[in-house]
Formats: sequence, structure tokens, C-alpha cells
Amino acid sequence: MKRTDLLIYLFVTLVLYSSCTGKRSSEKTTENIRTYYSLGKEVSASAQGALIQHLSKAIEEGGPAYAVQFCNLKAMEVIDSISMVNNCVVSRVTDLNRNPGNFISSEEDKNIWTYYTNEISEKAAADTVVETPGSIVYFKPIKIGMPTCLKCHGQPGVDIDQNTMLVIDSLYPKDLARNYKSGDLRGLWKIEFSKSVQ
Ligand code: HEC
Repeated sequence: MKRTDLLIYLFVTLVLYSSCTGKRSSEKTTENIRTYYSLGKEVSASAQGALIQHLSKAIEEGGPAYAVQFCNLKAMEVIDSISMVNNCVVSRVTDLNRNPGNFISSEEDKNIWTYYTNEISEKAAADTVVETPGSIVYFKPIKIGMPTCLKCHGQPGVDIDQNTMLVIDSLYPKDLARNYKSGDLRGLWKIEFSKSVQ
């Protein structure tokens, strides 16, 4: 093979190879994103469903003050068991947290929070998937979507009764999760899938 032929051969091979691998990896990523998008949707819906079910039952049984204690003991347990079953890490993150563990702390979460709070309302209603070096993360906004939420996250003395306020203050002395109004963005579901599990 002449030197120029060899160069052309190498060039063509490289272009073919790179376009081929380039396509394969981008297809794989798109496929992954789609899979994790629907997985995230399912997992967040079942977590939200389980929490609301427990919450409504506790309010029915003992009113909101009792239900706060119930959430304090059970919310993490419910969320952790859904993580185990689905092989992922389920959490809720927010800027005005009640549970100290739910505060937005990582750079990535801060960026996504800015995205949700800066977007126009229609876009902010959507869920999204973000790829990081080690994981694929699904985020979904949590809104103050029903009047019941205000019993514990609304205005103290108006929406939140005195008894409930006493329990909140004793269990969560640094609570920030109050003074919300109907329709406000309360936080985000964060469903994290590790890439090594694929
Ligand atoms: C009976 C009181 C009560 C009601 C009603 C209630 N919550 Fe909460 N909420 C809590 C408590 C207590 C926590 C902290 C749980 C914990 O310790 O993990 C909490 C935590 C949260 C969190 C996690 C972020 C944080 O601040 O720690 C979100 C998001 C949230 N609630 C949204 C809602 C929404 C949306 C509704 C209505 C569907 C609602 N809550 C109704 C008591 C309540």
C-alpha cells in the first residue's frame, strides 16, 4: 500500500469508527435517559402515593398534630423501603426544609433548584432527568397541591393550628417549611440510579 493510500485508509477507518461509536453511545444514552425517565416517574409516584396514604390515615386517626409525629417517625422509613425495592436512592430536597436532611446541599441539586425556580410556570411543572458521571437522576417538582398540605406547611395560627405548631416546633426547632400557599413549589423528588447497577 502506498503511503497516501495508507493515510486515506486510516482516515476513513477512523471516521467510520468514530461515527459508529459516537452513534452507538448517543443512542445508548438516549435509551437510558428514556428508561430512567419512566422508572423515575413510577418510583416517585409510588413514593408520593405511599406518603399521602399514610398521612391521610394518620390525620383521620388523630388530627394534624398526631400526624406530624407520625411523619417524623415514618416518612424516612417509607421512602427508604421504596428505595430498597427499586434499587435506587429516593429523597426529597428543598430550600426551606423541615427535616435537616432534606436541604439542598450539593452543587448539582442547587443548579437544578435554580432551573425549577427560574423557569416559567409551565416548564417548571415538568419532571426531568440529569446525567452525572456516576448516576442518572430523576427530578420531579412537589407542589402544595391540596389544602391538606397547608395544615402543616401553611401559615402558623391560620392554616396550622396551635397544637400542631407546638409539635412541629418541638420536633423540628429549625423548621423552615411553613408559610407556603396553594400551588407553591414545595420541593423536588430526587430519584438517583447508580450507573454501576446497569
Ligand atoms: C400532618 C402534617 C403534614 C402534612 C399534612 C403535610 N406534611 Fe409535609 N412534612 C411534614 C413533616 C413532619 C415533614 C418532615 C418529615 C421528616 O422528618 O422526614 C414534612 C416534610 C415534607 C417534605 C420534605 C422536605 C422537608 O421540608 O423536609 C415535603 C416536600 C413535604 N413535606 C411536602 C408536603 C406536601 C406536598 C403535602 C401535602 C400533600 C404535605 N407535605 C403535607 C408534615 C406534614
